[in-house]
Amino acid sequence: MSRRQVLAGAGGTGLLAATASPAKAAARTRRARAGAADGTPEQIHLTWSENPATGVVVSWASPGLAIRPRVRIGQRVIPAESRPYTDGNNGETVWTYHARVSGLRPGATYAYAVTADNDSNAADSFSATFRTAPQGRAAFRFTSFGDLATPNTSWVLSYGQSAYAVEAVESFQPLFHLLNGDLCYADLNPKVQPEVWRDFGNNNQTSAASRPWMPCPGNHEVEFNNGPQGFTSYLTRYTLPDNRVPGFGGRWYSFRVGSVLFVSLDADDVVYQDAGAFVAGPAALTPVAGTGQSPIEPGTSFYLRGYSGGAQTAWLERTLAVGRRDESVDWIIVQMHQCAASSSATGNGSDLGIRQEWLPLFDRYQVDLVLNGHDHDYERSFPVRGTDANAGHEVATGAVVNTLRPHPVTTTDSGVFDTSQGTVHLILGCGGTDAPLDEYGTDTADRSPFPGGRPPRTPQRQAKVFTQANRPALTSTPDVYARAGADAVEDAVWSARRDTATGYGIAVFDVDPAPAGSEAGGQPSIKVTHYHAVGADPVNPGTGVKGAPTPDYTEFETFRLVRPRL
Ligand SMILES: [Fe+2]
Repeated sequence: MSRRQVLAGAGGTGLLAATASPAKAAARTRRARAGAADGTPEQIHLTWSENPATGVVVSWASPGLAIRPRVRIGQRVIPAESRPYTDGNNGETVWTYHARVSGLRPGATYAYAVTADNDSNAADSFSATFRTAPQGRAAFRFTSFGDLATPNTSWVLSYGQSAYAVEAVESFQPLFHLLNGDLCYADLNPKVQPEVWRDFGNNNQTSAASRPWMPCPGNHEVEFNNGPQGFTSYLTRYTLPDNRVPGFGGRWYSFRVGSVLFVSLDADDVVYQDAGAFVAGPAALTPVAGTGQSPIEPGTSFYLRGYSGGAQTAWLERTLAVGRRDESVDWIIVQMHQCAASSSATGNGSDLGIRQEWLPLFDRYQVDLVLNGHDHDYERSFPVRGTDANAGHEVATGAVVNTLRPHPVTTTDSGVFDTSQGTVHLILGCGGTDAPLDEYGTDTADRSPFPGGRPPRTPQRQAKVFTQANRPALTSTPDVYARAGADAVEDAVWSARRDTATGYGIAVFDVDPAPAGSEAGGQPSIKVTHYHAVGADPVNPGTGVKGAPTPDYTEFETFRLVRPRL
């Protein structure tokens, strides 16, 4: 058990105990324990409700069925909805609870406690505080990273940095955190998925019980035998704002904080890349007998492209159109896991599916900022709008491919960018997972034509681009399958900054609404600071030097987004 889990299990500061009778609570606990099930809350985390200024959802899990699970806030006791599920691979039942807390005051701090009749900590139940979002044009801070994993290195792709990453969020005290996909890689530990999710939830509780953590699904939230898109583990643990699209709740959503419209998408629906759930072989994946599930044969993957039948893109267009028409919205910020503009060499790279489906909408409705994970590094684009045609080449043949390369509206790295002119993309897959991928592409051969045959002064940055599905293919080893990397490359003229020092970091966003008449002349801005954890790479991919998890996050770069108010 990690230090974080010990802290999580130790409970909170006892606000509930101050308002309840310890003797009665102890008696209740004894009665409940006689019933065997352990309803002690754990993995406690907050999400925004539909209106972050007036409501949150408190969610948690317990080892067994909780009796009368509830949240106490002030004089109110709010019963929680029980939402259990049974993991399709190992047959374990997971008990989750969700309590909607509404009717709160904007910009106010509240204390709450979580308990149940069979809470073994009932005498000193878990408690914490949170703050609701401000109303109207107000300054606030949020943070973001993806690809977090857990601190328990027994699990594939888990690493100790994920505990420090959660502490880093707390150190910046944001109003909320955006967790942009690949939460814990449970799918890569298919026989023990609930255990991986539990370590993830208990690690996050250190921060997520005190401020909402708003997630989007990544390719590794996709699990065999857990729902139509494999999202049951994810969807059961989170209650997210309602997108009002029947059958697709929780997969994508939007919410407003101050003058910012946040839009969270599931790019699994549009990318050419395959999802995380994959049986490479030679052995089949055999679910435990009690699940009734058949063995999953080598070469099987869970390909999701197109799963919503266009419903997500239609919702996105409606949401962006309404948002951009709304005069109280200055900024539109999108989070999704996979990347439209990443030049990682060792990771996945960019995906044409996002460029085809969503970048035209980002252009039309002037999306300011896109936050991604997926590649375990930090990269920032110049503001981009429109495309450069036929700028890519097939890896296999060198033939020209139209990768719809995002067109940079400037290539001057001034540190101040007007996002009414173009969208800035940030890759933030720098949470805490093992496998840092902070190596980036360079086109040393450079296929671009140069007038007069002169070579370029410096090699161009190069990005890999998926333009085709990379379904599993049989290797030369019998019954062993693999999936190809990206099939095309392009010169990454849109790439502005890449962190080559470490694969770990956190981005901090300070929204300054600059109300009309203020000193800044009424021009809203967002200050973005990326902090990175130098030395945290288990093995630096560039140098081979071994590192270790570190709590030291130091500034890598700061820049500002500005937007003239119309
Ligand atoms: Fe990913």
